[in-house]
Amino acid sequence: MDADALEREGLAAAAAAESADAIEVVRVEYLGRKSALKQALREVRDRETGMALNAVRERLEAAIDARESELARAELDARLTTERVDVTLPVGGYSRGKLHLITQIRREVEDVFLGLGYNVVDGREVESTYYNFDALNFPAGHPARSPLATLFVDEKTVLRTETSPSQVRTMEAQEPPIYIVSLGRTYRRDTPDATHSPIFHQVEGLAVDEGITLADLTGTLDFLLRKLFGENRRTEFRTHYFPFTEPSIEAYVSCHVCDGDGCPVCRHSGWIEVGGAGMVDPKVFEAVGYDPERYSGFAFGWGLERIAMLRHEFPDLRELWRNDLRFSRQF
Ligand code: PHE
Repeated sequence: MDADALEREGLAAAAAAESADAIEVVRVEYLGRKSALKQALREVRDRETGMALNAVRERLEAAIDARESELARAELDARLTTERVDVTLPVGGYSRGKLHLITQIRREVEDVFLGLGYNVVDGREVESTYYNFDALNFPAGHPARSPLATLFVDEKTVLRTETSPSQVRTMEAQEPPIYIVSLGRTYRRDTPDATHSPIFHQVEGLAVDEGITLADLTGTLDFLLRKLFGENRRTEFRTHYFPFTEPSIEAYVSCHVCDGDGCPVCRHSGWIEVGGAGMVDPKVFEAVGYDPERYSGFAFGWGLERIAMLRHEFPDLRELWRNDLRFSRQF
């Protein structure tokens, strides 16, 4: 056997191998159990030949190992290049969802009042009849106390019919001055139609301090109406009745369609009602232990669905829950 020729051949084969598989084939061929070299080593009889063949084996081993790691590195490099992900590439046309119109209006109203220095407080959707009716001065036979009008959980527990109970809870928890709004879901036993839904949303406002007057109320509501409906809308307040305010008023905004001339949208009156308000009734102050001789305050409660419909001029509030994206995406 020509050891030199074998070595040259083996080194050349190692250098020519172009993949991990190929170098493995070279290794088996030149260093494997059945290779010519191993066979020759097994048959060696003299020390000199043995040393020479072992030296060849070592050099071949070293060359094959070196080529093997070279190929492994090259293969890794190739993979890293071809499989590279450029995390800085812009993602085309990624569409984010948006907030529901009622949530947008809710946040907008919160922003208006945060800007006026009010706090936003949470109320409870499941309320006791005490907070929903008694503390708000609803008399015993008031129609809202009927299970035909209100959703009762049990005899003394209702799904709140308005956000006004949060007035009482706020006043119980702290002393004046109070400037808060409280927004959330309210419930009434109504059959859904174009203008009614058993679940709807209200914003409640409450200001209690020394020397608060009806002028503060109308000034505040005027400000809110213009923020919501635009600077050009005119506002009007008419007397009304609520058990927990005295005097009570209802706020009107000039019709967005006819600007006050009269049309079917405003039932030919030129005005559209947006919600109730009034000066906090002394009976409510007594229920929470405030001195009605010292403090006065105003409250208001408006429906967010109503605001949405008036502002965006859609005629059926059920659209808000129908989840037709062609509708929702407009806002
Ligand atoms: N809670 C009344 C309603 O739901 C609105 C209101 C709130 C009126 C506060 C006066 C004061 O109709």
